[in-house]
Amino acid sequence: MVQRDTFYSDGDVDTNRTGNLSLSQIVEVRYSRRAALFGGLRASAVAFLGTSVLAACSNGGGGVSGAAITVNAGQDAATTTGNFVTLQGSVSGSDPAGPAPFSQFTQVAGPRVDLVQAGNGRATFIAPAVATPTTLIFRFESGTTSVASDEVSVTVNPAQLTFAAVPKNLDDVVTVPAGYAVTVVTALGDPIAASVPAFKNDGTDTNYAQRIGDHGDALYYFGLSPSGMRDDNSSVRGVLAQNHENLSVQYLHPNGPTVDGNGARPAAEAQKEIEAHGVSFVEVRDTTGNRTWSYVKDSPFNRMVTPNTPMTLNGPARGSAMMVTVFSPSGVEGRGTINNCANGYTSWGTLLTCEENWSGYFRRDDSGAGSDSAARSARELTALRRYGVTSTTGNYGWSSAQPTGPMFVRWDARAKGASATADYRNEPNQFGWVVEMDPYNPAATPRKRTALGRFNHEGAWKGRVIPGQKVVVYMGDDARSEYLYKFVSNAVWQASDAQATDRLAMGDKYLDSGTLYVARFNADGTGTWLPLVFGQVPARPAVGSAPAYVFADQADILINTRLAADAVGATPMDRPEWTAVNPVNGEVYLTLTNNNATLRPLNGTNAANPRHYVAPRGTSSSSGNPNGHIIRFRETGDNNAATTFGWDIYLFGADSIDAGPNVNLSGLDATNDFSSPDGLWFSRAQNPGGQIRPLLWIQTDDGAFTDRTNNQMLAALPGVVGDGRALTITNTSNSGATATQSTIAGANATPATLKRFLTGPVGCEITGVDSTPDGRTLFVGIQHPGEDGAPNAPDSNWPQSQSGVRSGRPRSGVVAVTRTNGGVVGL
Ligand code: FEO
Ligand code: CA
Ligand code: CA
Repeated sequence: MVQRDTFYSDGDVDTNRTGNLSLSQIVEVRYSRRAALFGGLRASAVAFLGTSVLAACSNGGGGVSGAAITVNAGQDAATTTGNFVTLQGSVSGSDPAGPAPFSQFTQVAGPRVDLVQAGNGRATFIAPAVATPTTLIFRFESGTTSVASDEVSVTVNPAQLTFAAVPKNLDDVVTVPAGYAVTVVTALGDPIAASVPAFKNDGTDTNYAQRIGDHGDALYYFGLSPSGMRDDNSSVRGVLAQNHENLSVQYLHPNGPTVDGNGARPAAEAQKEIEAHGVSFVEVRDTTGNRTWSYVKDSPFNRMVTPNTPMTLNGPARGSAMMVTVFSPSGVEGRGTINNCANGYTSWGTLLTCEENWSGYFRRDDSGAGSDSAARSARELTALRRYGVTSTTGNYGWSSAQPTGPMFVRWDARAKGASATADYRNEPNQFGWVVEMDPYNPAATPRKRTALGRFNHEGAWKGRVIPGQKVVVYMGDDARSEYLYKFVSNAVWQASDAQATDRLAMGDKYLDSGTLYVARFNADGTGTWLPLVFGQVPARPAVGSAPAYVFADQADILINTRLAADAVGATPMDRPEWTAVNPVNGEVYLTLTNNNATLRPLNGTNAANPRHYVAPRGTSSSSGNPNGHIIRFRETGDNNAATTFGWDIYLFGADSIDAGPNVNLSGLDATNDFSSPDGLWFSRAQNPGGQIRPLLWIQTDDGAFTDRTNNQMLAALPGVVGDGRALTITNTSNSGATATQSTIAGANATPATLKRFLTGPVGCEITGVDSTPDGRTLFVGIQHPGEDGAPNAPDSNWPQSQSGVRSGRPRSGVVAVTRTNGGVVGL
């Protein structure tokens, strides 16, 4: 068997060798005056938070079981936001268990709830979000000949994390708190068309173009009405869209991937691997109305968008000479999407999927006998090297596949023909984009939105849509010392566009024209959005042997976004992963998963990426920022189009037993310590979990803490930007050298504000999260369980292990997590 490492490189390593620390210092002078102008921002952010949110913090704490409550008519009771409440009236023997007027509750005071009459004198509701203890009053009426009435009062307290924290563990199952249940909804290989046979999971299965792909990552639930139309409020039927980032390739074939005597991959194996990447759309249903989830094998909504699916290129880079290939002589169309990691959605009902570590899939020997470097211009070489298009095989060696064909040769990006219309030298320029797809129309061709820039796109999360404001999308470039971006539309949001029937036309309106910005985080807690606009971006200075890069036009800036961001002096970050937006106050959170000492040495810190320390791991250790952190910011004036913001560091990851004074800076304990945050998501604003003081969910993709626990998901009730303190960290290197770095930290975590909710099986990453609109089902992605095992000796048996079966190859999958008492998950 060939180990996966031999075949795959995620391409996120070390491509920013361009001296961007010194580049940032060069431009620091240029922007320092501007930063000073906004120096007052932080003070106002601090003043803001002196009010309600801090007050809400002090209400957090234990003492509430989180159990559903039943209240009898004539009684008073108390609960917390998100709990399931049953009201029970007394029904006489002759009173039918039927509808009003014989037996019903009506609400007479308090914030209006959706009261469900359940018969037999019963009614139920979910306790609403409240900022302070709030009393709801209901009147019960029943009777046949005469009507008796009584009242019930239920006092609702603000949201709390009522579940008991899941302990760290190394078990080969998904573990959730007491009172919660786990159902596997989909997994790798599940057939999504009527004619496709059941998955055997022995490496012999074929036709992955009609099966659930591998390495499920970010997901999103698009609601469906009973008649199969878009319904954003449906919590019983929907289309689950999920990214399929990569492969546990050893399990896809009977004995792992193979090569022939000439080192070529068999075409059938390569095709299977290609088709197991992409994005799946599959219909899911609650078949009982009681949160009993399964997928519909033959739904017309089901499809797999793969690296072979036709796409169009939209936005300013459409038709650029740099997009031209033998397949697309006009540079306006392409094929497929790959390494889709995090995602986003739009207010008009579409999915945004993001191409992350795409560069490694291409073969383009940068040197050696097979190199095309002599046929490339200096500009091309600067760009190709900046994006890491330098592999001598390409991941999994697809371009070598025999017998050969169009599906395979495109992965060889060497300049071999007379011009760009004769080969695939420009094929890498067609990847690294945000792609918009319509989940409700399987026939719609996906559109690559080039206005949002090209890099290792982790996610594309929209800010709040506010009538009269522009639309904003926040995006991380996940590689070491890369940057944070935002796109701001030219068009101002019109609420009526949310229900447009031509959804991708709305994408054309809001996502093809606008301004791309990159973030600079200033040391004083302010930040600046630097526009990447042709005419305003200077040449990217020479770095090492790479000459200065002069941009030709806006398409060049968007295709080579990283070079433009270098040129304006963006702040290098510790691997920007997901962004998430607080639906109530618009604050934006960004996971910075980790960085290492090689690329970000002791003197390479900055205020927004301030830590450098040594973390033990068993008998070894890692240094740099091995546990990562989460930064957050608020746009000036809460304006999506603001060019400045205020920031602080919400949380620092750490093992709570690590003793160094510069390690556990957020006061984590055994119930909430974590490492390498990646997935990040606020509960939907449609339910109490996303209202008033929204729940934040944090998922980990870690290798530094996995000796102590499998990867995990935490629930949090965060405060706001500026709720902590200025901090000076004394950093330490492997060799014992020290250096100080000032930063701004948020309030420490407490058991009331951060708690471990879920742990995954062996070898997995937890990534992908969404809920039904009612918040009572949480969908969570379990990616690459058993990724280090062998075909005949897997080191995880998940998902079989979830039901106690300790055999079989592991599969990535999606679980539905529900509360057995019917409440909102997490509250
Ligand atoms: Fe695919 Fe950055 O995680
Ligand atoms: Ca990720
Ligand atoms: Ca990841």
